[in-house]
Amino acid sequence: MNKLILDNLSTGVVVLDKQLRIEYMNPAAENLLEVSFQQSRAQPIGSIFATAGNWLEEIQRVFSNSTPFTRRQVNMQLATSFRHIVVDYTVSPIIEGGLMIASLSKDTVVTHVLIEMQSMDRLLRISREEALVSSEQTSRTLIRGLAHEIKNPLGGIRGAAQLLARELKSGPQQDYTTVIIEEADRLRNLVDRMLGINKPLQLEKINVHEVLERVASLTEVEVAGGVNLVRDYDPSIPEIRGDKEQLIQVVLNIVRNAVQALTKTDKDKRKITLKTRTQHHFTIGQKQHRLVCRVDIIDNGCGIPPELVQNIFYPLISGRADGTGLGLAIAQSIIIQHHGLIQCESKPGETIFSIYLPFDK
Ligand SMILES: Nc1ncnc2c1ncn2[C@@H]1O[C@H](COP(=O)(O)OP(=O)(O)OP(=O)(O)O)[C@@H](O)[C@H]1O
Ligand SMILES: [Mg+2]
Repeated sequence: MNKLILDNLSTGVVVLDKQLRIEYMNPAAENLLEVSFQQSRAQPIGSIFATAGNWLEEIQRVFSNSTPFTRRQVNMQLATSFRHIVVDYTVSPIIEGGLMIASLSKDTVVTHVLIEMQSMDRLLRISREEALVSSEQTSRTLIRGLAHEIKNPLGGIRGAAQLLARELKSGPQQDYTTVIIEEADRLRNLVDRMLGINKPLQLEKINVHEVLERVASLTEVEVAGGVNLVRDYDPSIPEIRGDKEQLIQVVLNIVRNAVQALTKTDKDKRKITLKTRTQHHFTIGQKQHRLVCRVDIIDNGCGIPPELVQNIFYPLISGRADGTGLGLAIAQSIIIQHHGLIQCESKPGETIFSIYLPFDK
């Protein structure tokens, strides 16, 4: 009965002896730590991890001080896959005879420690995504309000400048009115681009590769052979329901950023990969989807500056002198309207933008 309970717990349970060797591990712990109990039995717990931390000493101390403790959101790297996991864990002493009690007298002998651990990765990811979705909605409302406030007086300024231009004889003064009109137009274009986020979707059944191929051919013209464009497609991906033109806009915005990020890379090494896959059981916001379509846009450029990476999906956040900082905000907004999500991971030499689109809405 005890085994049945342990086997079905979603909390990982590991029991260690005095040398911190694994004496028991339940299936949840096997899953979390990506090892089987068979293989790791009697192995030191440290061998499961790629890097040793001071947490090993902390566990060892429980044998002498008999005091249980809990640690939260500890980042550990697994030795098998080098994957990082984030876990909460509690370590408690087990005394001779197998009974576990919180306060022990001096002469009790702790023979084992019990570790209960739970993965926090998924929870962290879900709360990050919720923050993304809600920040996107907030900025959309803000932009809509601001855009109207700007456009009305701007129309007035432009109209007045035009009237003035007609009254003036040609000469330097007319150059001034031209500047006013041109700058007003530039500002209106910017506001229109920001408002463009609100265009309703025209949904149809589309093959995601059609979208990527359109972007690929546009990009090939733009970079004129200066970037190695690699396709890594899964041709079996089912069709999705989406707005083709707007999805092209999304991928184009991301690919253009990648091209810009590659300017400092050696010419013959510049590479952008367009990769498609399906992914099972993916949670977007609060909804878990059985199957989603995943499009990765990977470049080997300079990477996103660390101080920007948290905020790149906000409008007007840009790391480029001539950037408006709207490309990614527009892209994220379009994908969220498709009930999907864009995520990004970046380090120098590898930036991955992943677009997730559900098949079932
Ligand atoms: N693949 C990438 N590699 C490195 N940095 C990137 C990458 N993609 C985006 N960035 C950074 O994120 C910033 C925001 O991108 P975004 O597309 O939103 O705006 P922008 O490119 O600056 O301006 P816009 O797209 O409106 O012309 C960029 O300025 C750049 O600093
Ligand atoms: Mg951009």
